[in-house]
Amino acid sequence: MNVDPGGSIASLLQETRVFPPPVDFARSAHVKSLADYEALWNFAKDEPEAFWAEQAKALSWDQPWSAVLDWKPPFARWFVDGKLNASYNCVDRHCLGPARNKAAIIWEGEPGERRVLRYQDLKREVERFASVLKGLGVKKGDVVAVYMPLVPELVVALLACARLGAPHTVVFGGFSGESLAGRIQDCKAKVLVTADAGYRRGKLIPLKDNADAAVAHCPSIENVIVYERVKSKVHWSPGRDHWWHELMASTPPDCPPEPLDSEHPLYILYTSGSTGKPKGILHTTGGYLLGAHLTTRWVFDLKDDDTYWCTADVGWVTGHTYLVYGPLSNGATCVMYEGAPNWPDEGRFWRIIEDYRVSILYTAPTAIRAFMKWGEQFPRRHDLSSLRLLGSVGEPINPEAWMWYHKVIGGGRCPIVDTWWQTETGSIMISPLPGATPTVPGSATRPLPGIVPEIVTKDGAPCGTNQGGFLVIKQPWPSMLRTLYGDDARYQSQYWSDIPGCYFTGDGARRDESGNYWIMGRVDDVLNVAGHRLSTMEVESALVSHPQVAEAAVVGKPDDLKGQSIAAFVTLETGAIASESLREELRSHVTREIGALARPDEIRFTEGLPKTRSGKIMRRLLRDIAAGVESSGDTSTLEDLTVLARLRTEEE
Ligand code: WT7
Repeated sequence: MNVDPGGSIASLLQETRVFPPPVDFARSAHVKSLADYEALWNFAKDEPEAFWAEQAKALSWDQPWSAVLDWKPPFARWFVDGKLNASYNCVDRHCLGPARNKAAIIWEGEPGERRVLRYQDLKREVERFASVLKGLGVKKGDVVAVYMPLVPELVVALLACARLGAPHTVVFGGFSGESLAGRIQDCKAKVLVTADAGYRRGKLIPLKDNADAAVAHCPSIENVIVYERVKSKVHWSPGRDHWWHELMASTPPDCPPEPLDSEHPLYILYTSGSTGKPKGILHTTGGYLLGAHLTTRWVFDLKDDDTYWCTADVGWVTGHTYLVYGPLSNGATCVMYEGAPNWPDEGRFWRIIEDYRVSILYTAPTAIRAFMKWGEQFPRRHDLSSLRLLGSVGEPINPEAWMWYHKVIGGGRCPIVDTWWQTETGSIMISPLPGATPTVPGSATRPLPGIVPEIVTKDGAPCGTNQGGFLVIKQPWPSMLRTLYGDDARYQSQYWSDIPGCYFTGDGARRDESGNYWIMGRVDDVLNVAGHRLSTMEVESALVSHPQVAEAAVVGKPDDLKGQSIAAFVTLETGAIASESLREELRSHVTREIGALARPDEIRFTEGLPKTRSGKIMRRLLRDIAAGVESSGDTSTLEDLTVLARLRTEEE
């Protein structure tokens, strides 16, 4: 190990750059040393129930649990018989003391408006909106869909659902009406909460129009609540559609939190899998909230006087856990910014950090790489000295981006927590604890206490040091998904069948001699584009749904900015003619079907796709072709070798 006592940097050799926690940081951290971390980790591994029972005291319970864990693999129940309410934990309990006047949400709209909601303001809004939902007949167990821009009302809507025990399902505002409809149909939501429109880089996203198109195919939706964000003109279905502000003005303000079973569903969040329709990841109340609460406190070393900013949208799990449930259950002050990082210019984030004196910043590698490209001059114009901790999430962060983040944004003084987790895991699993763990650029370092990962071969045998394998988790943990909504069998086969007795993450990884984990990316047909998971399957079915497309194969291609970009290989129906305009049309078609985030960056027309004798598309080969590298793999099972040669020479 090559370590500089000041904690700034070490050697020129990339592999050996190790950053110990700065001494001052460690002294006041929640977990202060590697020895403390190891003691906690070992205790949690050996006595998980005692460990989690101790940690769960940080939440406010209406009724204590009778058993910490009921584990009938792969089905877990945590804090059995315990009762609590997530909105009480995130809001009401902070209003019992001086935190009632603390800022809960400091919001900035893309056009520049500013709002501050103190904890008691948030409580008032949440309570009133819960009362609104109740008034529309929403009961415990009814699903509420949410399709909104990043405004405080989105958080209010979620917490109001949690207050009643109505599971929410948030659909990212960048998804199309089609995608929204598919999700609503799967979970049979009764109410949809949306907005007239949202802002993105100065343009309007027509949320209500998309929602109207979706709801036309969703008989389960009885009411649509529309938050007026933009004051744009919208179609109105009298009786079905209601303005948020009108309902809020006409509803009694009180709505006490419902004591809910620890295992009561808190939310469903759809995410892409390697096959079939999106998977409805189901999270429940007690275990999820504990995971969110504890990891926010430990990983971000959250203190009472921090100003915390997670830049994720609530449409993704990062927003659920680290913009809503984690920080609010800790009584934190959260910054929330509605828009794009380069609007009106590339300095927007740094201006926000300077203005609000943000101390903790949690963002994604794809954003960091964009900032690098835009140049140091933007952050250099702002005083970033309030920052004390930086976080990264969504994909592996390349060491170059890590170093830039460390130097240019963190001024060389802020620890970086590279946090590995998934929609399914609910909360951070592998990450440095900033006061305890020496960090290494590119590694998420070590598992958190209570998390027992292993790297194994296909047969489940442990891999050796630095030997790449499949990342699995060996013990259940409180914030784990409970099932795929309405599909226990798929839950079982997707996560618990590949490697017997373990939860399979779908990621490849290796562990080095110091015990640090290096995540190597997905091993299945799942893309990671700008930190967002997309399935090759969904993009393929969107392409194939176009009348001129016969067959399509989609692969990821390495991309400097987005991690991966989307390359599609398309064969056309006879008679259809490959052209630049068709290529554009297919791109727009995918945008309409799924959303702009799934729009292929590259479309190649081809006469055939390389397949095995059994008819499986050989994506491995297509990945090589897309990346422009020579295929070294075995092609002996290829059905038609000439297809491969032809694909190589066909120009984009
Ligand atoms: C997949 C999960 C977790 C919230 C955001 C994405 C990749 C995530 C890291 C990281 C390397 C990472 C993995 C994982 N991933 N964080 N720090 N280092 N890879 O949530 O959409 O559920 O995607 O993102 O491949 O399996 P998600």
